[in-house]
Amino acid sequence: MLFVPNKLLLEKAMAEGYAVGAFNTNNLETTRAIVRAARELDSPLILATSEGAINYAGINNLKTMAEIAAQESGLPISLHLDHGTSLEIVMRCIRHGWSSVMYDGSKLPFEENVANARQVVELAHLVGVSVEGELGRLVGVEDNISVTEREAAMTDPDQAQEFVKRTGVDALAVAIGNAHGFYKGEPQLDFIRLEQIRARVEVPLVLHGASGIPDEGIRRAVKIGVDKINIDTEVRAAFQKAVASFLAENPQVIDPRKILGPAIKAMSEVVKSKIELFGSVGKA
Ligand code: G3H
Ligand code: ZN
Repeated sequence: MLFVPNKLLLEKAMAEGYAVGAFNTNNLETTRAIVRAARELDSPLILATSEGAINYAGINNLKTMAEIAAQESGLPISLHLDHGTSLEIVMRCIRHGWSSVMYDGSKLPFEENVANARQVVELAHLVGVSVEGELGRLVGVEDNISVTEREAAMTDPDQAQEFVKRTGVDALAVAIGNAHGFYKGEPQLDFIRLEQIRARVEVPLVLHGASGIPDEGIRRAVKIGVDKINIDTEVRAAFQKAVASFLAENPQVIDPRKILGPAIKAMSEVVKSKIELFGSVGKA
C-alpha cells in the first residue's frame, strides 16, 4: 500500500507523545501546500478528504494528486476519508486505495452507530485499512444551544469505552466542546472529560474542529493524549485571504498560477505552524 494506514502513524504518535495533523484538501494547490509543509518539517501527515471534496474534485483526481505528492515527498502519508457517513462512500474510498476511513455515525443513536462502525471495521480491516469512529456530537459554532444541551452532546467516557470495545475502531474522535469552523469567542474545552476518556480508551484519540483553538489548548490536549488533530478552516481562510489580497493589488492579472501561488505559500505556512504545535517535526 502506497499510503500508510492511520493506525501505524497514530500508534507511534501515542507512544512518543505528539499528534499527527490531518489537513483537509480538495484541490491540487491545497494538496501541494500541505505536503510541502510536511516535507520541510520531516513530519508524518494525514491528507483528509471529505465526501464533499470527493464530489468536488473527483475521486480519481484527489487520489492521484495525493499519490504523486506522497511519492515525491518520501514521507509516511495517510490518505484518509473524513466524516464518511455511509458504507458506500467508505467502500468507494477503500476500493480506490485510501489507507484510512472515518465512519461518522455520531448523529445516529448509539446502537446504530456501534452496529455500522463495527461493519465498517470488519470490512476495512480485511484489507488493512484503518477506521476512525466518532462518539458524541460536534455542535456547530452557529448552533444556539444551552450549556446543558452542549454537555449532552459531548462524549460520555463510559460509552466511549464500550464503543471502542464493541466496534474495534482504530481511533476515536471525541466531542469535548470542540466545533467545526471558527469559534465564537474562546472555545470551552472539557479537558477533565478528555482525561476521563483517555483513561478508559486504549486507542488513539482524535480532535476535530481544531481551527481556532488557542495553542495552549492544543498543547494541553496533546499532553493528555490526543494523537490526531483535524484542521480545515484555518487553511481555507489562509487561501481566501491570500487570493483576495493578491487580486485587490493585482486586478489585471488573469493567470491562475500567479493568483494561486501566494495562496499555496500561505496555506503551507499555516500547516507548518500546526505541525510544529502538534510536536510531529522530525517524526517522519
Ligand atoms: O474534519 C475536519 C475537521 O474537524 C476540521 O475542523 O474546520 O474547524 O478546522 P476545522
Ligand atoms: Zn471534523
